[in-house]
Amino acid sequence: MMTFKTPLAGLAFAAVAGGTAAANPDHDLGRNLFTDNAFMPCSACHALADAGAEGAVGPDLDVFAPTIDQVRVAVTSGIGIMPAFSEDLSEEEIEAISAYVAAATGSAVPQEGASDLAETPGGADAS
Ligand code: HEC
Repeated sequence: MMTFKTPLAGLAFAAVAGGTAAANPDHDLGRNLFTDNAFMPCSACHALADAGAEGAVGPDLDVFAPTIDQVRVAVTSGIGIMPAFSEDLSEEEIEAISAYVAAATGSAVPQEGASDLAETPGGADAS
């Protein structure tokens, strides 16, 4: 007869949930491109707290919290008065920006429960 107690399950979950944004090597690249790229900085038009951006032409991305797909589509093709970036940025750059924005606004991690944002202890060390 064997009896297991498995406190490790909770620890593993915490490690996965906490490490996502900080472990992404493209995160800094995405932030740099958001505030400074070869075409037009996103920060000129969008607010995004993680990037220190306060643009007010387009939607506040912290509020909008787009998925990676929404960012990729908007940046690639443009939307409304927002220009398309596809002729000036590479696919890799657009991908890095998309992943960064989704991660910085908390929508990159698919969630079962919606309360994760409020509980996230610190995104502050992601520099
Ligand atoms: C010239 C100003 C301007 C720039 C530069 C700009 N945007 Fe936008 N963006 C807008 C406006 C305005 C909208 C709203 C368009 C609409 O809904 O008609 C928008 C919409 C969006 C949306 C929402 C798309 C949706 O599905 O509704 C995302 C995400 C976004 N922008 C991300 C970015 C990113 C990332 C960059 C940099 C690569 C960027 N934007 C650069 C003005 C800008």
